[in-house]
Amino acid sequence: AQEQAVIFIIFGGSGDLAHRKLYPALFKLYTKGYLRQHFAVIGTARRPWSHEYFRQTVSESVANDLGDQAQVASFVQHFYYQSHDVKDANHYVALKKLAQQLNQQYQAQNNQIFYMAIAPQFFGTVAQHVNSEGLLNPDGFNRLVIEKPFGKDLTTARALNDSISATFKEEQIYRIDHYLGKEMIQALPILRFTNPVLEAVWNCHYISNIQITLAEALGVGERAGYYESAGALRDMIQNHALQILALLAMERPTEFTSQAVHQQKEQLFAQLHHYTLSEVDHNFVRGQYDVDRRGYQTAYREADNVPDDSLTETFVAGRIFVDTPRWHNVPFYVRTGKRLRQKATRIDIVFQPETNNIFANYHKQKILPRPTVLTIAIEPRQGLCLTVNGTNPGLGLRNSLQPLSFRQSDGSLANSQEAYEKLLIDILQGDQTNFTNWIEQAYTWQFIDIIRQRWDQITPDFPNYRSNTFGPSKSDQLLAQLGHEWIFGT
Ligand code: BG6
Repeated sequence: AQEQAVIFIIFGGSGDLAHRKLYPALFKLYTKGYLRQHFAVIGTARRPWSHEYFRQTVSESVANDLGDQAQVASFVQHFYYQSHDVKDANHYVALKKLAQQLNQQYQAQNNQIFYMAIAPQFFGTVAQHVNSEGLLNPDGFNRLVIEKPFGKDLTTARALNDSISATFKEEQIYRIDHYLGKEMIQALPILRFTNPVLEAVWNCHYISNIQITLAEALGVGERAGYYESAGALRDMIQNHALQILALLAMERPTEFTSQAVHQQKEQLFAQLHHYTLSEVDHNFVRGQYDVDRRGYQTAYREADNVPDDSLTETFVAGRIFVDTPRWHNVPFYVRTGKRLRQKATRIDIVFQPETNNIFANYHKQKILPRPTVLTIAIEPRQGLCLTVNGTNPGLGLRNSLQPLSFRQSDGSLANSQEAYEKLLIDILQGDQTNFTNWIEQAYTWQFIDIIRQRWDQITPDFPNYRSNTFGPSKSDQLLAQLGHEWIFGT
């Protein structure tokens, strides 16, 4: 790998995200040579830690990874700690001094990555000070990395965007949607645009409906503080599900560059069909989990910091239309939920059924062709499966569904890169393809806000699904309305 010289400044460097995701990923980059000599990481947070103590916490968070102890020890020598109050201008002066000194010491070529691993309400304050205290280095690159949630509706997202874009230009901003770092999601453009046999049928003439399932087995855990103000619609659909939808539905980019891909995604999002408020009721279903049938798993309302009468949804299923000729009348079903029967992130593309059944009267047997399905398994397995009508050996002619299936072996999965690792490499290399941009955020919030607005008008009857199921029965009815059914888990 090509080494990249850079100083990382991580706001929230003592936090959970940094330790769970960021440091292990940076360590991977170090073992693979993307980071070698010419880099340093400054962690900032309020508590008064020493460099030494900080390094110790970082070693602990990467210790589970393969690397040998000597390598961990040399890696953490690149880490520095700066106690920092995001509101105190003087602290930025100190930070700048440290960054300059490390830039010299490590010959980091004036490149800087500002990583906001803090609550979004502070993004604006930090960005503003980075500007006013002159932390941007005009002689190298300056990149800003931010995590979700990117606002909670269009208005708050715009305010957030304005607050950072006074300091950073769009081409310097990397908004993380970690689903875009997943291998099988990155594989979608390859699948679509390097296989003419698939490209030829990727439209309403051959596809009946598309199902995007982001099922989780876990409950809300300890994140109720955030989740109560978000809910599944904002937490999973506005970002992850719609980003996947865009990669499946967008028109062919002229070439595979960030600019060309974003251009197509923006256009696609602009063509999401907007429902009227009352149409939302027929097209979107929400749910909240209850105990499971045997009473082992507790209800959402029993979780820590969740009020007894919480109306927060932990499940969403929806039908989305895209107003383009390619997708005329093709429903995109999206579904996500917590406490579902199993963790499964997958896409099922259901092709049109054969309407001219020449076997209808064959020897008085019923030969009913089933729709062909292309399944893209994202997690926990990675693979592709095309399910077709075939026959089994034996007497008579019968059709049976047969999978033409490929699954990544455990051996090859051992080489797979974690989403964060992939995304960090992109940031180092200045590639924004796998990040979301402001226009996409604006369009997706516009779409989501209508659903949210309708839901806020009506009190749902929660809880309405048991843990360890696939959600409320209304989710099945949503598909049945148009003669469809979930391919996975009903
Ligand atoms: C996050 C959501 O964006 O994605 C979480 O905030 C959710 O609520 C998580 O659990 C799921 O991610 P993954 O990679 O485990 O599917």
